[in-house]
Amino acid sequence: MNEDTIDGYTIPADGLVLYSPFTIHRHTDFWKDPEVFNPDHFSPKKIKARQSAAYLPFNTGRHKCIGQTFALMEGQLILAQVIQKFDIIKSVLEKPAFKPGLTLRPASPIDLTIRRR
Ligand code: HEM
Repeated sequence: MNEDTIDGYTIPADGLVLYSPFTIHRHTDFWKDPEVFNPDHFSPKKIKARQSAAYLPFNTGRHKCIGQTFALMEGQLILAQVIQKFDIIKSVLEKPAFKPGLTLRPASPIDLTIRRR
């Protein structure tokens, strides 16, 4: 490994580079209205237009999650089955505060009512 310079920053050969997915996922260079829940952010057209590293919940590069394809498929299958049978209603509409940790969590529990359709 050698020293490198990226965008004016010198990275030593043994340097440790950390990045923040939280910041990248909210960066207005990559996302229009990043704080707004908008499934259209993930339309095939939008995904194609955006650089791939702008969204990295599974990381990228050498240590990219090996379960990514499985997790995305499993998530969609579970969601499709659950919403066919149940309505999920959020009782409190305020935006939850964050509790940052190894993963990002809501600071307090989110109350949901689950009703059979
Ligand atoms: C929503 C679900 C998941 C998310 C968000 C997720 C996220 C991640 C992330 C961010 C990393 C990189 C960690 C790092 O930078 O060192 C990772 C690594 C990894 N994930 Fe996942 N993961 C998920 C599900 C899964 C599943 C279902 C499996 C296995 C079936 C899995 C297996 C792994 C393994 C083995 C690594 C280590 C890869 C390596 O270091 O070479 N993950 N995951």
